[in-house]
Amino acid sequence: RKAQIGVTGLAVMGRNLARNFARNGYTVAVHNRTYGRTRELVEQFGGEGDFVPAASSEEFVAALERPRRVLVMVKAGAPTDAVIEEFAALLEPGDVIIDGGNAHFEDTRRREAALRERGLHFVGAGVSGGEEGALHGPSIMPGGPPESYESLGPMLERIAARAPDGTPCTAHVGPDGAGHFVKMVHNGIEYADMQLIAEAYQLLRDVAGYSPAEIADIFGRWNEGRLESYLIEITAEVLRHTDAATGRPFVDVVADRAEQKGTGRWTVQTALGLGTPVPGIAEAVFARSLSGHAELRAAAAALPGPQTRDGGGRMAPDEAAAFAERVERSLYASKIISYAQGWDMMRAGSEEYGWHLDLSATAAIWRAGCIIRAGFLDRIRGAFTNDPWLPSLLADPAFAKELGEAQQAWRDVVAAAAAGGVPAPGMAGALAYYDALRSDRLPAALLQGQRDFFGAHTYQRTDREGTFHTLWAEDRSEVRA
Ligand code: 6PG
Repeated sequence: RKAQIGVTGLAVMGRNLARNFARNGYTVAVHNRTYGRTRELVEQFGGEGDFVPAASSEEFVAALERPRRVLVMVKAGAPTDAVIEEFAALLEPGDVIIDGGNAHFEDTRRREAALRERGLHFVGAGVSGGEEGALHGPSIMPGGPPESYESLGPMLERIAARAPDGTPCTAHVGPDGAGHFVKMVHNGIEYADMQLIAEAYQLLRDVAGYSPAEIADIFGRWNEGRLESYLIEITAEVLRHTDAATGRPFVDVVADRAEQKGTGRWTVQTALGLGTPVPGIAEAVFARSLSGHAELRAAAAALPGPQTRDGGGRMAPDEAAAFAERVERSLYASKIISYAQGWDMMRAGSEEYGWHLDLSATAAIWRAGCIIRAGFLDRIRGAFTNDPWLPSLLADPAFAKELGEAQQAWRDVVAAAAAGGVPAPGMAGALAYYDALRSDRLPAALLQGQRDFFGAHTYQRTDREGTFHTLWAEDRSEVRA
């Protein structure tokens, strides 16, 4: 019997994807650098489906039906290159190599171009949903040549999560690196979402005076409304959890230094290159890095904070409940802003690389399976279905209306954060973005004047076409540049 798919790299993500394929009725060839892992997989989970364990890459390739489909699940970077090279040498034209790791999309573009030369199809596929998602149904974002999707797509559709309307959470995203680009933006949005939720928690705790368990209940309630999402749900779980060793809230015993594997950073670096403003994602990445700088934090630890009313403490119950309501609005509005920035970035990437991304389809395949899954994504899908040329999510009538309704509470919360000395860079930055975009005049005009003054960098006028320069050091008359 021949295997319809092969998975090489059997760490937890690879193993769970292999099991997912097998549980869905596919014969799956499995391979790992060290055979022990392969044997272990078959011993532990062999009963779940049809696995063909391969001890060598040659045996692995020989076990596959043609066109061969090889899913590579190894560490991004050099290990991925090494494994691709190892298998490319054994494959034949028309065969497909899929990289399901978190590769940088520029690496994917390079690999795709190189393998195309050799007649092989290379699919960089973003896979989201963590270990559980890989096993029970992830969101899958495959890029690469469209023809590769003909043979691969139906298999991915079988193992992917399903949106509430029953559609599989996968689709061909676009050529070459489009899949990994979109996954990268997903992670940038994931960072922003997590940061905003974390800020909401700290405001509820330090301004309203709620306990972690009470905040868990608040998040639990929010999860039944428009904020319903996997991240809000797990936030409630984490906040409700008590540390067994100390009996204290778990969140109080975890070191407050956030780590990152780097995909959020890539998103921001890429956005800088594309010239797309994604301050919500950037603030989230910087908030993580700030938290890890013990020496900076120690140096500033003695600086004074605000003189809080009554020395801080709990708000009266009614006041706290009203504040929580405003935090919900602020969180929701800020969330719209960070998703708007993520979609701007996908549009910019699509134009830069000629991918023709379908912005509505991206929202559709994130409705289930991935870390940012939420009912909210269906609304974004709807916004871009109604108007594929929507210039910004903020321009969608439904989202615009909600922002309008939330904005006063949002201002109050950002003001309360500043007054209370609670850092809320995500919410404050999101509000600044909202205000900047809706501004009729920005101080960018003054910046242009400064640039022209010190560097003769020129400017345009509001009332006439052309490029101008003021002779600042002379008689300050204006000349055409
Ligand atoms: C997903 C996640 C995943 C990511 C981890 C950790 O979509 O399943 O985005 O791919 O690697 O969540 O990311 P950080 O270590 O950067 O927080």
